[in-house]
Amino acid sequence: MIAGLALKQKAIPPKYFYDARGSRLFERICRLPEYYPTRAELALTRSSLPAIGRFCGRQGELIEYGSGSSLKTRLLLRRLRPARYVPVDIAAAALARAVARLEREFPWLEVRAVAGDFSRPLSIPAFGAGRRRVVYFPGSTIGNLTPEEAQAFLRMTRGQVGPRGRMLVGVDLKKDSRILHAAYNDAQGVTARFNLNLLARINRELGGSFDLRRFAHYAFYNAPLGRIEMHLVSLARQQVDVGAHRFAFAAGETIHTENSYKYSVAEFESLAAAGGFAARRLWLDRREQFALFGLGAA
Ligand SMILES: C[S@@+](CC[C@H](N)C(=O)[O-])C[C@H]1O[C@@H](n2cnc3c(N)ncnc32)[C@H](O)[C@@H]1O
Repeated sequence: MIAGLALKQKAIPPKYFYDARGSRLFERICRLPEYYPTRAELALTRSSLPAIGRFCGRQGELIEYGSGSSLKTRLLLRRLRPARYVPVDIAAAALARAVARLEREFPWLEVRAVAGDFSRPLSIPAFGAGRRRVVYFPGSTIGNLTPEEAQAFLRMTRGQVGPRGRMLVGVDLKKDSRILHAAYNDAQGVTARFNLNLLARINRELGGSFDLRRFAHYAFYNAPLGRIEMHLVSLARQQVDVGAHRFAFAAGETIHTENSYKYSVAEFESLAAAGGFAARRLWLDRREQFALFGLGAA
């Protein structure tokens, strides 16, 4: 985090949003009227379950990256009846809560949680050879990666699933920028609180002196780059200390905190191909706002 604040365009990777409070705020975002992605993905998953089940097969191993509360996963667990479920998330507290609930709800399921960072090489504990692996990456978390990072991530998961494996990726599609703008600038200000919580976390965990009243949430759609950008904008000229480091902010200067890339179907198909996958299935919600891609080895 400190290194990012020393850059010319100050930037903090979005994985740091998810302390215990950040994870709770994200779950609230998912229920906001303006935040269509969760509802769209839930609806399309529910309506396409039989086909998703046929594509993935039963009794395999389900690995989920950025599993959060494992909300949509419940539908898959019932349909795929995997022999083992491996939720991977950087947010250890939220992961532990999710696992405790899953174990109560699915007593027949072996849950082997991995608290870790998927932007680095991660090893998934080995499991019965011969079982098909399915990697699940919902929630348009792939949009938080740059296309280059997304390609490297897909290459890693392609190695994990092997030639017979499958991957399911939830992708937010390009659309009217007013819908995108509303989704990241909700009327209740929950997304703003989620963004500003990053500064509260730095204050708490790294001895920072950010005054949260002197920063504001700022999110917009950058059409040429096809991404929502989320920033924290300094409302005044100010200096902030983080531990032994001092950072100067001009009025209006920002910390870039998140990208959320939006893809067309064709753009995502080429990204998948660059990662070693072929897009074999495509499931869309009724309004065609969100896509779930079924990938197999190219
Ligand atoms: C956009 S949320 C999606 C949550 C959930 N899968 C859904 O569909 O609603 C991103 C999730 O990925 C996790 N995450 C973000 N960056 C991560 C990283 N580098 N390594 C592991 N988990 C990460 C967050 O803690 C959070 O649970």
